[in-house]
Amino acid sequence: MSARYQLSGTTAVEISAGIESGIRTGALSPGAALPPVRALAADLGVSPATVARAYQELRQRGLLVTAGRHGTRVRPRPPVAARRSALRPPPLPGARDLSRGDPDHRLLPPLGPHLAALAADGGPSVSYSDAGVLPELAEVARARLAADGVPAGELTLAGGALDGIERLLGAHLRPGDAVAVEDPGWANLLDLVAALGLRPIGVPVDDEGPLVAGVAAALAAGARALVVTSRAQNPTGSAVSAGRAEALRALLAGRRDLLLIEDDHAAELARVPLHPLAGATASWAFLRSVSKPFGPDLRLAVLVGDETTVARVAGRTRVGAGWVSTVLQRLVLALWRDPAVDELVRRAAQSYEQRRDGLLTALAEHGLPAHGRSGINVWLPVPDETSAVTALRDAGWAVAPGALYRIAAPPAVRVTVSSLDIDDLAPLAAALAHAANPTPPPGFPT
Ligand SMILES: Cc1ncc(COP(=O)(O)O)c(C=O)c1O
Repeated sequence: MSARYQLSGTTAVEISAGIESGIRTGALSPGAALPPVRALAADLGVSPATVARAYQELRQRGLLVTAGRHGTRVRPRPPVAARRSALRPPPLPGARDLSRGDPDHRLLPPLGPHLAALAADGGPSVSYSDAGVLPELAEVARARLAADGVPAGELTLAGGALDGIERLLGAHLRPGDAVAVEDPGWANLLDLVAALGLRPIGVPVDDEGPLVAGVAAALAAGARALVVTSRAQNPTGSAVSAGRAEALRALLAGRRDLLLIEDDHAAELARVPLHPLAGATASWAFLRSVSKPFGPDLRLAVLVGDETTVARVAGRTRVGAGWVSTVLQRLVLALWRDPAVDELVRRAAQSYEQRRDGLLTALAEHGLPAHGRSGINVWLPVPDETSAVTALRDAGWAVAPGALYRIAAPPAVRVTVSSLDIDDLAPLAAALAHAANPTPPPGFPT
């Protein structure tokens, strides 16, 4: 904990408010250790139960984490920080930033012409009483999903994949419920699960998707929801294979007590076929965001699912945000209908594949097995994340430490390949090889 930050308060509410304020202002940084319950209670002259209640409240809201002998700490990305950019240290000046998971902006469709066409067209005036999903958008979305074998279901929209997942979890689960998530898995999802006061149960992943035994164990441990990334799993690049989908569908068949959520965020960018699990359980939802192929600022995801699940999400949206702006819907529809955009997305998918495969091949030449079956990330196991990230930083490359994505999975680093050029691959692989197999200091026995 920061030596400068003095915890205070005589009630659980005051103590938790003080800690929250310390996190918000940055005085308590992510990962900072808090004093043990008894020590803080003695310091503040309150009962240990009061401090325990304050910690418990902040844990349920995803601000703190308690991990056995590591004690209680501020979560790596607590949901109260003022600016997202403050959550990750900036790379050193001049360093190449491969830590962010963004698509290559040079490969996103230009929006200007479509925005101009929308402006010229004016479009219908939409009011509170008739706003909702545009029928023509729903029709094109359904056709695109059907072409990939996603079963027909009810359809609604969300403001991106994560917004959809939040609405789904909120509609089906209560704080304290368990959610099965991939381990390693998407950091933002782990943050969301913590912020909703849900309990993550990690399901190990290999190149073909979540392990069947891991999902079975999560179900046995009482998971009420399961979130599966169909393709371009973040951070490992895994994609659910035909065989894995069949085995998982058999395991999940007919379950009525589990909400199955599939996140097909790579969508049109994926160069591997989709093998959906949708429909195996009574409660299911399949999400396809437009962020990665068309641009992260287009906050729109299509959500299909069974009637009850979609009605809950759509109903909750109606009494809150209302609807996804029809201006945005019309823009996305225009992009989907433009053959030139199709071609650009196809070229982007090919280019990401070349960079990813190129890096995997270059790493293999150094004897390093890494993962990246699809998408824009490569996951490289390393013996020690901190020293690997530091060695890479010193060599001019910023990568993401695996700790952001892991529950119990072994250490690794995530390298986003989307901004790499072919000429970068050899020097980057050499730097990664050095970071993954650090040379021991001279004089030490090997
Ligand atoms: C696994 C996963 N799902 C979804 C998304 C996109 O989320 P959103 O649609 O909220 O932008 C990402 C982006 O990195 C991701 O890694």
